[in-house]
Amino acid sequence: MSVLSGRKILLGVTGGIAAYKTAFLVRLFIKAGAQVKVILTPAAKAFVTPLTLSTLSKNEVFSSFTKDDDENGLWNNHVELGLWADLMLVAPATANTLSKMATGNSDNFLLATYLSAKCPVYFAPAMDLDMFKHPSTKENFNTLISFGNVMIPATSGELASGLSGAGRMAEPEDILRFIEDDIAEKLPLKNKKILITAGPTYEAIDPVRFIGNHSSGKMGFELAAEAYAAGAEVILISGPTHLENPNDGIKLIRVQSAQEMYDATLENFDDMDVAIASAAVSDYRPKQAASQKIKKNNENLQLELVRNPDILATLGTKKKHQILVGFALETQNEEENALGKLEQKNLDFIVLNSLNDTGAGFRSETNKIKILYKDGRQKTFGVKSKKEVARDIIEEINLLLHE
Ligand code: C5P
Repeated sequence: MSVLSGRKILLGVTGGIAAYKTAFLVRLFIKAGAQVKVILTPAAKAFVTPLTLSTLSKNEVFSSFTKDDDENGLWNNHVELGLWADLMLVAPATANTLSKMATGNSDNFLLATYLSAKCPVYFAPAMDLDMFKHPSTKENFNTLISFGNVMIPATSGELASGLSGAGRMAEPEDILRFIEDDIAEKLPLKNKKILITAGPTYEAIDPVRFIGNHSSGKMGFELAAEAYAAGAEVILISGPTHLENPNDGIKLIRVQSAQEMYDATLENFDDMDVAIASAAVSDYRPKQAASQKIKKNNENLQLELVRNPDILATLGTKKKHQILVGFALETQNEEENALGKLEQKNLDFIVLNSLNDTGAGFRSETNKIKILYKDGRQKTFGVKSKKEVARDIIEEINLLLHE
């Protein structure tokens, strides 16, 4: 899967002949799973139509400060659009637009949005060879690079003027690959290995019945997806759940019982940089699982339960360089209990979610967490989707890894 999957790309198209190639570029971004919004400068409209790009991007195309040059005061919000984007690409980037970007000129909608954007910005120059060679153009490239913008090098070849030389916009496939490689290279958890336990465990009573719990596994699967998106190598060890692997790049090991989860976790732990235990592991299991289905009779049935190993506590005794994160789901004396576990299990931080909070818990789509650190720091978060909560937790881990 492309690193662009799910990312929001703002494509700024300026008035050069290579603008016609942006139709292919938009298609490639969409195929890679990105969301795309396009801004055209007034001059770009002569080279490629808004209709082409809105059809391909499945989004409205912007080209001025007002809606269809509306005179009733309806405006396009460049600030909102700039903040919407995860990345902005200006392609083709003409000498004119590059010089304006370099000097903070904002006399069209694309430029105003560029100035408002906080995301990484890429630009793919396209111009005739003498313009490309001109010292002022070169200086503008350097200025833009010094601002943190990333230049996608132009190539050499036949130019629209009939001359041949440097200044051709990189081909759409090469632009896509350039951006994918650049993002992959800069992902915060690149080269980090993260193990995550998720879901419930099933403890067999007999071949038909088990002791389990209501955990859906969603939190752990979202954590795996976010860690993977941040560039980590991820092993997800999950008890029984209907959830599918969020990404084929994640190594998913499916297990049933606490003992199986323990074995799979311990087998992989030494190599890891981080382990997050989000599984709802059964504390007890039947001493002996019956080999045949237990028949009912008129007597009461007694099951003898024995303790399961505490996976996370075991990791706590084995940890060397690893960051260890646990979850606590409490109904009373929440903080006190969570802090107790933080210490007993030798964790770096524990994520507390309380069943008393609305929007938190097992089957809900949302969660509300508080993070308690071993050094006493605490962070409280609002009710968020489990995906956003996962992102917050991965961000905390990222901060710890780079401390
Ligand atoms: O002690 P408690 O079960 O409340 O601790 C919760 C934390 O410990 C969770 O992170 C859970 O995944 C982990 N745990 C474990 N193995 C167990 C019990 C809990 O890894 N047997």
